[in-house]
Amino acid sequence: MKILFIISSTHVGNTRKIAEAMAKNAPVTIAEIDSASEPDLRDYDIVGLGSGIYFGKHDAKIIEFAENLSDKSAPYMFVFSTSGTGNFDKNNKPLIDLLKSKNKIVLGSFGCKAFDKFGPFKLVGGINKGRPNEDDYNKARIFMESVMQKYKEAAK
Ligand SMILES: Cc1cc2nc3c(=O)[nH]c(=O)nc-3n(C[C@H](O)[C@H](O)[C@H](O)COP(=O)(O)O)c2cc1C
Repeated sequence: MKILFIISSTHVGNTRKIAEAMAKNAPVTIAEIDSASEPDLRDYDIVGLGSGIYFGKHDAKIIEFAENLSDKSAPYMFVFSTSGTGNFDKNNKPLIDLLKSKNKIVLGSFGCKAFDKFGPFKLVGGINKGRPNEDDYNKARIFMESVMQKYKEAAK
């Protein structure tokens, strides 16, 4: 099995930390959305898209990437995010809906609260200090196992 994460983690690197936890026991390559060489999605069984939530949405580059996906590439995908609120059901839904509209099978959705020092939060030294934490990393690893299991069942 080969898995690719395409991430954007521009605020303080929270999403990258979660991506690295997910990748710990899984055959994952992590690529930044900005990286010079564009990966060939056909080389991967599962592609995960993740970023921080900025003004209620995934990074615009991640959304643009999803908008440009062809119907044929990367049928099995999943979505993750980190955010100040940690309300990932709400935050991830637009990207999940977009992927479904591109005929992708979305194997899961993950998110957690994470350190946020944007705007007014900077004045108080940021919120959610210490997040993501060990508990978040464990949940991320368990989530990744469930994604791989779902892939095995779906791709039989
Ligand atoms: C410009 C900006 C806008 C943000 N907007 C939101 C938001 O609308 N909702 C939220 O819950 N968190 C928001 N945050 C907090 C980030 O989602 C959070 O810190 C996230 O973990 C950043 O991920 P990253 O370090 O991987 O970029 C915002 C942060 C920045 C810098």
